[in-house]
Order: sequence, then C-alpha cells, then structure tokens
Amino acid sequence: RRADAAASSAAARTRAAGAGAAASARPFPPGFLFGAATAAYQIEGAAHRDGRTDSIWDAFCRVPGAVINGDSGETACEHYDRYRDDVALMKDLGLQTYRFSSSWARVRPDGGAVNPLGVDFYSRLTDELLGAGIRPWLTLYHWDLPQALEEDGGWTNRDTAYRFRDYALSMHDALGDRVPVWTTLNEPWCSSFLSYTAGAHAPGRQSAELGLAAAHHLLLAHGLAIEALRERDAALELGITLNLTVAKPVDPASAGDLDAARRIDAQFNRVFLDPVFRGSYPEDFLEDVTGLGLEKYVKDGDLAQIAQPIDSLGVNYYHGEFVSDRPAAHPLVGDAPTTRQTRSPFPAADGVFNHPQGLPLTAMDWEVQPDGLRELLVEVEAEYSGPARVKLYVTENGAAYDDTVADDGTVPDPERTAFLREHLGAVLDAIDDGVDVHGYFYWSLLDNFEWAWGYEKRFGIVRVDYETQQRTVKQSGLEYRRIIAARALGA
Ligand code: NOJ
Repeated sequence: RRADAAASSAAARTRAAGAGAAASARPFPPGFLFGAATAAYQIEGAAHRDGRTDSIWDAFCRVPGAVINGDSGETACEHYDRYRDDVALMKDLGLQTYRFSSSWARVRPDGGAVNPLGVDFYSRLTDELLGAGIRPWLTLYHWDLPQALEEDGGWTNRDTAYRFRDYALSMHDALGDRVPVWTTLNEPWCSSFLSYTAGAHAPGRQSAELGLAAAHHLLLAHGLAIEALRERDAALELGITLNLTVAKPVDPASAGDLDAARRIDAQFNRVFLDPVFRGSYPEDFLEDVTGLGLEKYVKDGDLAQIAQPIDSLGVNYYHGEFVSDRPAAHPLVGDAPTTRQTRSPFPAADGVFNHPQGLPLTAMDWEVQPDGLRELLVEVEAEYSGPARVKLYVTENGAAYDDTVADDGTVPDPERTAFLREHLGAVLDAIDDGVDVHGYFYWSLLDNFEWAWGYEKRFGIVRVDYETQQRTVKQSGLEYRRIIAARALGA
C-alpha cells in the first residue's frame, strides 16, 4: 500500500513538472538551514598530537585487512591544522551551519582527565565558525571511543554510558556558551550492531548479544547526557542523529517479504526511535531477538532515562532498500565492508535479502532513491517527531563517486550534482507534504576517511588531494553555493 501511495504521489509530481512547475525555482522556507557535516576521525588527522590517545578506530585500522589499503585517520585531511582555511571555504560556499564532532580521545585521553589542549582545538574551531557567521552544531560521539575504554568492554560495559555523560559535560564546560545545538550520538546502529555484531567497524567484535548490549548502553548514554546537559542549560537544542532506512517488501502481497521489511524496520529504525520517543523497545523487536540476552543489560528505570525529552531529531539518509525472504536473482552485495550495512547482522533476520531495483548506483553500490528521503521524513514526522514536537533535520545525505580532475583543475561531478539536487528536491517534496523540515546537511564537506573503505570513497563537495592537501570545490559544491544563495532549487 505504501509503495502504491509513493508511486502515485511521484506520478502526481511528474505531472506537475510536465505542467511547467519544473521551470520555476522552488524556494526553501524561511529559516531552513543549509549546512555540511564531517566527523572528527574522518578529517582531523593529528591523531597523536597534543595529548590525544588511541580511539577504537586507531586500533582497528592497525588490524590487517580491517580497512581497505590499510588506511587510517592518522593524517586524514589535516583539518586539525587547516581548520581556519576550511572554515573560510565553508563561508565561501555560503554554509549557514556546520555539523562536526569532537574526539573523546582528544578531549579526555584514554577516557580519563580533561586535556586542555584537546578541548582548546574545539574552542578555536567554534570561534572561527562564529567569526564566519556559521552556526556550530556539535556531535559528541561519531564512533571514536577511547581505546582504553574499549579495553574495559567498551559499549558492552554499562559504565561507558556514565563516562559519556562526564565527557559531554566537559565539552559543555568548554563550549556551552557558544555552541547552540548538541547531538549526543551519530548513528548508534553503526556503533552497536555494525561494530559489535557484524564486526565491520571498530572494535570489530562479532556477537549478537554484544551488539544488543552496546545498543542499549548507547541509548542509556544518550539519555544520561541529555538530562545532564539540560540541567546545565535549558536553552540548548539537544538531540540525536539516527541512520534510518525505508525498507519495502519486494512483493507487497508476499507475507514473507512483508515480514522481512518489518524486521529491517524494527532493527534499524524502531529499536532506536521507540526507546527515545516512547520509552520502550518495540514488542516485535524483542520477539525477534528472544534468547540473545538483551534483558541482561536493561535495568529498572533505564527506558525512562533514555526517553528524556529532546528538541531535535537528525535523520541520515543515503538510500532505501527492497527486501524479501527470497534471495535476489542478481544480488549486489559483495564482501566489501560497508555493503554489510544493508544486511541485518542478527541471526533473527537471517534470510532477509536485499533486491536491487536496477536504479543508478553510487560508488558505494547504493541505489539512488531520492523519493525514499521524502517518504522517510513523512513517516518519521507522522509517527515520532511531529507528536513529540521535535525539530526534524536531515543531518546527513550525500554520495560517493569516482571523481576525476579535469585538465583545467576543476572537478566536474555531474552525478553528485544531480544527487544533491534530487535529494534537496525530495526535502522540498516532504515540505510540500506538510513535514516541517528545519535543515539539510550535505555529507560531506570534504572527501575524507570513509571508515572501512579508507580514502577510496569520496563523498565531498570539496575534493581533497591527499598528497598535497589541496582543496578544490567540485561542481557539486558550486551548485550547492548557488542553491544556498538563491534559497531555492532552480530549474
Ligand atoms: C554515515 C556516517 O555518519 C558517516 O561517518 C559516513 O562517512 C557516511 N555515512 C557515509 O558512509
């Protein structure tokens, strides 16, 4: 039914476009924020400078075969030294806001005492942003747990949640007067199931129970930090960012396909949305994971702690998926690390198969499905953010392509440019459908360290030459600048 509704609303839009709507610019609402996003380990480099110690990603990168080409974030984009130039670039692009993360291992090396030199970097970066008229948006956890904490069990250890609260408060001590928007976690699905169950991300553990323990403790960490930050300052905009997916049955008449879609929805979306917004785990999810040990980690009062009221919800969207309980005739999924992201690591979801739809692919082999973003925003607003009166943002959306530099030094990236335009169009479609979307962040400002893919996958609207660290704004970046300046998606 959902698929039918989507098809007919897409058809209506095509008709409207045919009637001439595409020829006129589509404005974004007043107050809509345009931004770009990055994360500490992916861009900073200086991995062992000024007191920073190993995070789980430094350690994981040393595991033979864990990261393509044996790459690591040791040097990355040298943003730690080049942040002033990078902020100047953001200003030139017209960005209104910039979403970045802080490195826990820089701020509290080994998860211990506060390191003034580490904190100072984020303070200088914040001042630089404010000086450029760009609104800083801080994510406290974008996957780089101090390795010393991992050695005590990492996210499978309940104590890590309390350590996270302390780390959040030390960031507040330093930046609370200047950073208005705070996100606790980025994509806890990845920090739990992809990292402790699938083993594709740091720390590379492979256990269904440990993934569940990590997910629960991450949620607890979120709730503890929200409560503590709220106590400090009621005016902060506080929230979480989730990587949500739109899973559809390949055959809407097949009970097996419908159940496959339900299980993916439960294990990607509702397992995080329900505790945060409703203070409970979804019943069907609990059934799916029966016998895997989640109940050992859930203590009395945890769910109420997790369901602290928040102010904003960030949605990261890259692609949707069509799933079935039957294998696809032509599967896309190979053995490459992040393709595992679209498969559920749970034994309970064994037998869920992704069916490629023959749509254009990005360099990650992700199908380009812009209308999935509209659908997702419509559903999330109807079910969660709307009733909770929480501001909804697209905190990440973007695409990797194998860019080439032209002889004249420019970087023509027509596919990414089209991807950006189509997804901004989908945001406008969601707004037309009545969803109150407050902003959009392109992932990413810069080409950077794409986790298990190393530097092979480039998502930036700005190219980084890793030999020289030269930055070149790509055609997509120039297009984004035009759109931001016009505050409209032109024809
Ligand atoms: C989501 C993550 O937050 C980000 O770190 C990553 O680079 C992008 N997806 C692209 O895979």
